[in-house]
Amino acid sequence: MFTRRLFLASSSAALWVPALARAQSDKYHFTLGVASGTPRETSVILWTRLAPDPFNGGGMAPGLVDVRYRVCRDEAMRQEVRAGLVSTSHLKAHAVHARIDGLEPGREYFYQFYYGDDESPIGRTKTTDPRAGEARLALANCQAWETGYYAAYRDMAEWAPDAVIHVGDYIYEGGVAPLGPVRREYGGVTLDYSVVRQHNSPEITTLDDYRNRYALYRSDRHLQAAHAAAPWIVAMDDHEVDNNWAGLIPQDPDKQSDFEFAVRRQAAFQAFYEHMPIELPPNMMRLGGEMQMYGAYRFGPAQVNLLDTRQYRSDQVCGDGFPGDPPCTALDDPSRTMTGEVQEAWLLAQLRNSDARYNVLAQQTWFAPFDYVDDPENRKRNMDQWDGYPVQRQRIIDALASDVSNPVILSGDWHCAAAMTVHKDPDDPSTRPVAQNFAATSISSICSWHGRIDEARQANPHVKYANGTDRGYLRCIAGARDWTASFRTVADAADPDSPVSAHAEMTLRDM
Ligand SMILES: [Fe+2]
Repeated sequence: MFTRRLFLASSSAALWVPALARAQSDKYHFTLGVASGTPRETSVILWTRLAPDPFNGGGMAPGLVDVRYRVCRDEAMRQEVRAGLVSTSHLKAHAVHARIDGLEPGREYFYQFYYGDDESPIGRTKTTDPRAGEARLALANCQAWETGYYAAYRDMAEWAPDAVIHVGDYIYEGGVAPLGPVRREYGGVTLDYSVVRQHNSPEITTLDDYRNRYALYRSDRHLQAAHAAAPWIVAMDDHEVDNNWAGLIPQDPDKQSDFEFAVRRQAAFQAFYEHMPIELPPNMMRLGGEMQMYGAYRFGPAQVNLLDTRQYRSDQVCGDGFPGDPPCTALDDPSRTMTGEVQEAWLLAQLRNSDARYNVLAQQTWFAPFDYVDDPENRKRNMDQWDGYPVQRQRIIDALASDVSNPVILSGDWHCAAAMTVHKDPDDPSTRPVAQNFAATSISSICSWHGRIDEARQANPHVKYANGTDRGYLRCIAGARDWTASFRTVADAADPDSPVSAHAEMTLRDM
């Protein structure tokens, strides 16, 4: 494996230049940066994609090529611990996934890719360590390209956490909005924001569309910096495919047949894999094939159970969205699920068997209830979130209440930061608190409904903090004594270099 040629090449990337690579393009190949993810005690997946013409299919000629990588202990890339070649081709958009095994737990590593004359940026990654005394985790979601820049990611990259948890809406599937300031009325509140940059096509539906959309998002320098600064663990939400999809059901079945949606979902899954540092899903190329995104990761005192609440969920009921119709009988159906039976059984077993101080559910939507009308007889809730799946939510609460150490639930999706207590009976705040639910605000997506949330705060005494006006992300520090959640907010989402600071900070002691 470790040939003399590779060894020589490790001292200078330019020594190893495949002739084919030179012939293909004079442009820089690593336009989309580098990433790492799926961190374990002794392994991590490194990612890049050869894309000399990133917004037009990538710009590589069809065929197989080899890309070289090196992994070192130091940022200067002198103390090499691994080096090798990875093959890729047009069949995966010339994306590169290199799984590196045999690493030491809880260690920083630095990595770089080489192709032709080109060297990629150098990335930093870190293996996990269950014995670490502390874990530093960033939670991100919802990064609509058009409505804001990614200053939040610059701040996250500077923090260099142990891992970034992304719970979805990494891309948005929509078309192009006109540039400039927007003023909208929503629920009696005036919203002012700007479309600061534009999507690169009408609504995306084909594999080429999705690839070009990922390339657009990944071209952002701050997003690239956050990927290069830490390993990510990722699970998609709805906009990576289509708004509010559920299983194999689109939001608008009148506009796309079941077959059309299955083809579209497969394309979306493939492009997601091609742009994320994750394992190859075994049956991804099959129509209707699954892509397992859920999994457990141990960061020091925190066991993070990353959930997928979109791919296996039952269709939304009672109005399919926000705010839903008054409760209908379908809500009481115990077979309705956010996770599917298999994932639920897996999660409950994880919780039962965990010896971690903090047991984290990192997932897409708000887990705690939220009433948009102060009338218990005529509740209006968001049917796309856990409020639309109350029977399964109660099963999970019951499991958390039975001797699970410090449950912390992390959420995205709603473009609104929040700190909420989940009670044993989630509708009755006089019952025992069981878990804390922290929601990160969006990186850049607008929270049009923040006025509705602010208005309804009194009807939701379990909500200790809510902020839908600011963009940002959540920093979590799981320590030996307590858990700190810091809501980082961007001063001006229309400024890529905006300052970012803590808007609120909360500390949890043992629950
Ligand atoms: Fe979103």
